[in-house]
Amino acid sequence: MESITLKAYGKVNLALNVGKTRPDGYHDVAMILQSIDLYDEITVEKSDAFSLKITSGDLPEDDRNLAMRAAKLMAKTYQLTPVAILLTKHIPIAAGLGGGSTDAAGVIKAMNELFGLGLTLEELCWVGEQIGSDVPFLIAGGCCLASGRGEILKPIPDVKGLPMVLVKPEFGILTPWSYKAFSPENNPRSDLEAFVRLLEEMSAAAGDGADPTANAPVTEKRLEKVRKMASLMKNQLAKAALEAYPVLGEILEKLEEQGALATMMTGSGPTLFGIFESEESADKAAEVLKKELPIHYCTLRTKSI
Ligand code: C5P
Repeated sequence: MESITLKAYGKVNLALNVGKTRPDGYHDVAMILQSIDLYDEITVEKSDAFSLKITSGDLPEDDRNLAMRAAKLMAKTYQLTPVAILLTKHIPIAAGLGGGSTDAAGVIKAMNELFGLGLTLEELCWVGEQIGSDVPFLIAGGCCLASGRGEILKPIPDVKGLPMVLVKPEFGILTPWSYKAFSPENNPRSDLEAFVRLLEEMSAAAGDGADPTANAPVTEKRLEKVRKMASLMKNQLAKAALEAYPVLGEILEKLEEQGALATMMTGSGPTLFGIFESEESADKAAEVLKKELPIHYCTLRTKSI
C-alpha cells in the first residue's frame, strides 16, 4: 500500500468549563466534544522527503502546519520514511471547529495504516496529545467528556444526526487569546453530570427519535430533550469573545430567530452553531442566514455523527 486517503472530521463543543491555570501554562478544562459531519480530505503517501500540499486557501505548508508536525513526529517516534501529504480543506480555520487539529489526527491515523504499525487508540492519542490538546479527541471521534487540558477522554453516548447550522464570521480567534481573555466572573459553568445523564437518556431512548438519522421523525419527546440540552450548553470561553466581538451575539440572535432550539459558540470560537429540530428547518435557516449575513461569513450545514 503506497497511499491512504481519509476524511478528517471536525467537532463542536456542546459544553466547555474552564478551570485553573496549570504550572505548564494550560488551563484545566472539562468539556463535551462531539464529532460533526464536516471534514477535510487527506491523502498521505510514502515519499523521499516530507511535503505538504494544500489544495485550497492560503495556509502554511511547512512546520507551522499541525499536519506536517504530526507526520514528522510519527516518523521520528516509529522510525518511518518521510511522507507527502495532500490536504483539501473544507473546515474553516481558527474557527473552534478543530480544523488544524483534525488534520494532524488524520495524518497520525493515515500513517498508522500506511506503515502497518497496528497502534492502539491509546498509542495514537499519545502521539496526538504532543501536537495539541484536542488532537486525541479528533483521533477518537464520537462524543467524549474531555478533561485535563482536553486530552483525557471518556467516551459518552452520542446523539447522532442532530441537524446543525454553523456560522463563522470573516475573522478568526486564536486559542491562546481565548484562554488568556477568560474570566470566571459572571460566567456560568455547565452541569456536566446532568449533561451526560441527558445524553445517556437520549441515546438509550431508541425508537423515539432520540438517536435520529437524517430522516428520523421529529418527536415531541426528542424536542423536549434538545430543549433541555440547550439549558445545559455553556461555553465559558464565549463570554470574552462575545464582549470583544459584539457581532457574535447578533449571529446567535439570528440563529434563534431562524428557529434554533439551542445555540452556542464552539471551542475558542468564533464559530457559532445552532441545533435545529429537523434537517428541513436547518436547511431553511442556513439559506436565510447566507442571504442576510455579510458575504465573507461562512454559513455551513452539518450534523452530529
Ligand atoms: O494544545 P493547543 O496547542 O491546541 O493549545 C493552544 C493554546 O491554547 C495553549 O498554548 C494555551 O495557551 C491554550 N490552552 C489552554 N488550556 C487548554 C488548551 C489550550 O490554556 N486546556
